[in-house]
Amino acid sequence: MAFLCMFIKLTLFAAALTLTATSAASQAKPGCQSHCGGVTIPYPFGTGGSCNLSSRHFIRCDTTPNPAQALLRYPVTMGYAEVQVLHISLDGYVRISSNGDIGSDCYSSSGRVSDSSIGLYWLYDFAISHTRNKFTAIGCDTIAYITSSRIGLNYSTGCLTFCGSVNDVINGSCSGIGCCQTAIPRGMRGYQFNFDSRENHSSVLNFNPCSYGFVVEDGAYNFSVSDLSDTNFNKREFPLVFDWSIGTQNCTEAQRDTQNYACKENSACINPDNNAGYLCKCVDGFQGNPYLGCQDINECETLKLCSVGGTCYNTPGSYSCSCPTGFEGDGWKNGTGCTQTKPRPESFTILLVTLVLGSSLGLLVLIVGVWWLYNTLQRRKNNKLKQKLFERNGGLLFQKKMSSEGGLDKAKLFSSEQLEAATDQYNENRILGRGGQGMVYKGMLPDGRIVAVKKSTTVNESFLEQFINEIVILSQIDHRNVVKLLGCCLETEVPLLVYEFIPNGTLSHFIHDQNEEYPRSWDIRLRIAAEVASAISYLHSSASVPIYHRDIKSSNILLDEKFRAKVSDFGTSRSVNIDQTHLTTQVLGTFGYLDPEYFRSSQFTEKSDVYSFGVVIVELLTGQKAISTSRPEEMRGLVSYFMSAMEENRLLDIVDSEIAKYGLKDEVVAVAQLAQRCLNLDGRHRPTMKEVAIELERLRTRQGDVVPTNQPKQSELFVRKATESWDFTSSSTEHYTNCSITSTSESDVRPLMLDTF
Ligand SMILES: *[C@@H]1O[C@H](CO)[C@@H](O)[C@H](O)[C@H]1NC(C)=O
Ligand SMILES: *[C@@H]1O[C@H](CO)[C@@H](O)[C@H](O)[C@H]1NC(C)=O
Ligand SMILES: *[C@@H]1O[C@H](CO)[C@@H](O)[C@H](O)[C@H]1NC(C)=O
Ligand SMILES: *[C@@H]1O[C@H](CO)[C@@H](O)[C@H](O)[C@H]1NC(C)=O
Ligand SMILES: *[C@@H]1O[C@H](CO)[C@@H](O)[C@H](O)[C@H]1NC(C)=O
Ligand SMILES: *[C@@H]1O[C@H](CO)[C@@H](O)[C@H](O)[C@H]1NC(C)=O
Ligand SMILES: *[C@@H]1O[C@H](CO)[C@@H](O)[C@H](O)[C@H]1NC(C)=O
Repeated sequence: MAFLCMFIKLTLFAAALTLTATSAASQAKPGCQSHCGGVTIPYPFGTGGSCNLSSRHFIRCDTTPNPAQALLRYPVTMGYAEVQVLHISLDGYVRISSNGDIGSDCYSSSGRVSDSSIGLYWLYDFAISHTRNKFTAIGCDTIAYITSSRIGLNYSTGCLTFCGSVNDVINGSCSGIGCCQTAIPRGMRGYQFNFDSRENHSSVLNFNPCSYGFVVEDGAYNFSVSDLSDTNFNKREFPLVFDWSIGTQNCTEAQRDTQNYACKENSACINPDNNAGYLCKCVDGFQGNPYLGCQDINECETLKLCSVGGTCYNTPGSYSCSCPTGFEGDGWKNGTGCTQTKPRPESFTILLVTLVLGSSLGLLVLIVGVWWLYNTLQRRKNNKLKQKLFERNGGLLFQKKMSSEGGLDKAKLFSSEQLEAATDQYNENRILGRGGQGMVYKGMLPDGRIVAVKKSTTVNESFLEQFINEIVILSQIDHRNVVKLLGCCLETEVPLLVYEFIPNGTLSHFIHDQNEEYPRSWDIRLRIAAEVASAISYLHSSASVPIYHRDIKSSNILLDEKFRAKVSDFGTSRSVNIDQTHLTTQVLGTFGYLDPEYFRSSQFTEKSDVYSFGVVIVELLTGQKAISTSRPEEMRGLVSYFMSAMEENRLLDIVDSEIAKYGLKDEVVAVAQLAQRCLNLDGRHRPTMKEVAIELERLRTRQGDVVPTNQPKQSELFVRKATESWDFTSSSTEHYTNCSITSTSESDVRPLMLDTF
């Protein structure tokens, strides 16, 4: 409770701080200079750009003098002039210094000497305030006028002052003897002075050679007798006040022009009484700068109008008081205040209510307690189960292996919650592909990476160690044309694999989908072939332990957003010791891609991958499927179809029309011959994957690759994220996992990998 109170107090305190901060800072537009010297510059005034509402509200801050001076600019016939600003009020006036703005009319015994009468004739944008200024003239033989003679605005007013001798004059009194004052006509702008005298000051020359006339803020000038003889009086500075406004339209007109209407939220428009332009004002209960928007005043903080015990509620623009329960009254200081309600006589009812409330509260506490206990136990049970599954799934082995191989940073252990969140509880519409062995879901990790989560349907416990081995090996493959394994999750019933997400579908889709506008040029096909060859060659020879893929086919090759190949699906792969040349296993693989030698002997060698890759090249060359019922019976298999065409020298007949379009290029022939060698029935006569890769790379670079070659570096590639859908089709019908032509000999060579993946 105490904590809650403190929290509320802190929040109120913070709110109060923001309020005062904004009301002080909101005077200028955000990001604009708010002060110059001692002068605050509230918007619509500003120091240029969008800081001032219009050029009429432009203030130049001159930092040469110390302190700096705020200068208001106004146009004259040629260029502009400036006056020093002393104060700008949001109530619609600006106080300036009358530097040099004093008219004079001086005489000597020979008559008039000088007559300077130009006032602020050109300061025409704003009216001289008729309520805050006085026109003042001093002299003892003086008739002074102030006139404004712009077209349509002819005003004139003035006063006269005479005195016989200096003794008649009284300090401080400006009532016609040596000094006179008069009001300014309403709406006067751009004025000048005119003087006249009855006797050319001839009888007062000894103490008053000059007449002076000026506009001064009411009360800011105290007449002194000595001013009459001061010939430098016109060098004095007095404050005077101008009215400013927005535009030239009145409120009715301005509100129609919503685009330029200057009064922002919680403010109202007012017509100044000099009938020029308009002003804005915060409505009652709000404060701030109406030209930027007004904020609510927290009257509860400022006014404290509620009585002792009363609670104050601040509402936008208003507030109210009320009494807490158990008290009556209106809560106002000026009203009835708050007085405690007298206890009701029906104390029995209260007792009953308390009893009922108390017992139901007890029951509630009991229920919550039981629920909490149940939850805790359930969670503990869940955690135990998870730990058990983790251990069963080889988690400890995995951790040991990874830390000893220094690869813990490369492959990550994901928690089941993480993957559940990433795949939206394995939501149906996140399924990317569905196959005999399991499902692939698209997911998004908390850091925004898009991943493919592979979840198998069954798991064979006896192969868990091999499964872990495989994850460890895969996570250490770092080749730009091999799909990257990001990690796994071992605490679920079936282990889950997390791969980088590859957006452009499979190579099979790319070759065979007639509808889509894929870039199927020869150059791209050749590049894909070279990339796949490079990846397999790497697996065979460059990886720390040789790895046989064992299921190379076009639907196991994925394409990224730039149609770069990524070899995937290492479900049937094996890693072998360097000195091993073959593996004896169950025959696994896909019809149409399967090495006949392997099929016969069930001995898988690196040349078996070469054979399967040969089929992929022929697919790329012909655009035909590995097995097709649309071909005659004996030509169902793409290999026999291709080999017979090669023997009969009919290559041009079978290559894809896209390639044949430009005739039979040398590279096409060379690639076809390479495929022929890969498909040799005798594995010993097939080239190694390395030779194939070198040959393809040579052909590719010789012809020049038209596809953008700004391939990213490997490290870059693995952080790349893809967002499009991934057609991860893995058709179970193509596999025949249970075609068990089983191990014949060498029982010491055990397969290393879980066959269900
Ligand atoms: C502010 O004043 C400057 C100088 O006169 C002017 O160039 C600028 O356009 C004014 N800003 C606006 C928004 O009118
Ligand atoms: C005032 O001086 C002017 C010349 O400056 C002269 O023409 C005029 O007659 C004088 N008036 C009087 C009343 O002395
Ligand atoms: C205002 O005064 C000028 C000369 O000072 C004159 O030309 C003009 O006609 C006057 N306008 C009006 C409306 O009286
Ligand atoms: C009027 O005030 C000035 C200074 O403000 C002073 O020097 C002068 O003596 C005063 N004169 C009279 C008559 O009080
Ligand atoms: C004018 O005189 C009054 C009264 O003596 C004084 O309060 C006021 O400050 C004086 N004003 C100026 C501008 O000197
Ligand atoms: C505003 O100006 C228009 C036209 O100039 C005029 O018809 C209208 O009466 C004015 N409204 C006010 C409130 O002055
Ligand atoms: C008390 O004062 C507030 C604000 O000044 C006012 O709104 C309210 O009507 C007053 N209440 C009474 C009972 O006078």
